[in-house]
Order: sequence, then C-alpha cells, then structure tokens
Amino acid sequence: MKVALGSDHAGFRLKERIKEFLISKGHEVIDFGTTDGESTHYPLFAKEVALAVQKGEADRGILVCGTGIGMSITANKFKGVRAALCLNEYMARMSRLHNDANVLCLGDRVLGEDLALSIVEVWLNTPFEGGRHQKRIELISSIEKSCP
Ligand code: RB5
Repeated sequence: MKVALGSDHAGFRLKERIKEFLISKGHEVIDFGTTDGESTHYPLFAKEVALAVQKGEADRGILVCGTGIGMSITANKFKGVRAALCLNEYMARMSRLHNDANVLCLGDRVLGEDLALSIVEVWLNTPFEGGRHQKRIELISSIEKSCP
C-alpha cells in the first residue's frame, strides 16, 4: 500500500517510528514532513496528506500531532477524506469496517509507541465492510457536495 505520512513537531518522533514500521512491512511511504522537532504548524502537514489521498496519489494517509485532534479537524476539511482519530485498536478497526476511513490520526502525547503501531497495523489491515455502511458513506459525500 502507498501511505502518505505527516506530523508536526509534537508527532515527529512517532511519525518516524511509523515510517520505519511501514517500510518494514513492505509498504511504500510518502513522507510530507515535518523533518525535525522544531515547532511548526499541524495544518500544513494535514493539508499535504489529505490532498495526496484526495488525488489518489496515496492509498491512505497517517497524521500525527500531540493529540491527533488538530490533524483530524484539518484533514476532514478536504472532500473525499474521512479522517479518524483513533485511541485504540477497536476504534481503528471500526473506522475501517464502518466508516471506510482513509486517513488515520494519532496523538503522540496520548499513545505509547507500541499501542500506536498496533493501531496502525489494525487500521491498515482491516477492510471496509460495505453493505449498509456504503449508503452512509454516500450520504457523507452528498453532504460534502451540498456544503457551502
Ligand atoms: C502542538 O503543541 C499541539 O497543539 C499539536 O500537536 C496538536 O496536539 C494539536 O491538535
């Protein structure tokens, strides 16, 4: 899978760890930064990852900031992006099964590394269930189209 990655300074260390993990599992990574722990602004990176997913340049996106909240707020501004802030494997699994989430948002300040990597693994390996959930995704898309 081709995965777009982004973080701010607060998510930098975990983003780097996720990058290593994804490469070790045979995924292709597009890293949009940040490149170090110097203070920066999460919307800049959320935008790049969201656009890569929206344009189909990446299959999925993963964004990391301190809490994951700023990343999820920003990524969900982009049409076709369904960003899910996940705190555990259950949320990761359900965000795929029911919501067909295409961007995963994580908080480095609220998750240990092992849990974060476990969330990533579950999220990447869980398919969308479709069925009754497809209609709900279509409703999200139609709301996006009619949004001012
Ligand atoms: C940075 O201090 C922090 O505000 C940011 O990483 C994120 O948690 C915002 O939602």
